[in-house]
Amino acid sequence: MENRSLNIQYKEYSNTNDLPEEYKLLAQKAKEAVKTSYSPYSKFAVGAALLLENGEFILGSNQENGAYPSGLCAERVALFYAGSKYPKVRVKGLAIAASFKGEPVKEPLPPCGACRQVMMETQAVGKVPFPVIMVGENRVLVVDNAKFLLPFSFSNVSDASK
Ligand code: THU
Repeated sequence: MENRSLNIQYKEYSNTNDLPEEYKLLAQKAKEAVKTSYSPYSKFAVGAALLLENGEFILGSNQENGAYPSGLCAERVALFYAGSKYPKVRVKGLAIAASFKGEPVKEPLPPCGACRQVMMETQAVGKVPFPVIMVGENRVLVVDNAKFLLPFSFSNVSDASK
């Protein structure tokens, strides 16, 4: 038996002004996307912004439904929209912002497990890691590689492409 451990690296910034330029705009776009959320049930509005390799930003927000499980998180709205609009274009970065009852959240919003799984597959298909920027009022967290959000992730990408 061997005791092993995984090292998860992330950066913490005190606010979006301290972010590197290329992340700053992405964080701004995620905040913009929050405004388009349809979240009358949870009152928790989430925005996600993607920067694609072609320079285009793709914005998504959470879309809820009276039949609750039918709704979808902001991150997957953005990732699936990007995949359907530009199937072959890589994602260069993803930012997430949120507000509750109209107030921006104090702490950064780490994405749900299902969205992390979708991020991992996007990365696996694109073969280039991308950063995830999580925006809160008190701090901003950045992982340079989405894999730090999902250790031991499932993937059948290499089998599926055979
Ligand atoms: N939500 C997201 O859009 N992204 C996340 O990463 C976590 C949760 C949404 C789903 C639901 O509409 C609302 O936030 C409350 O859970």
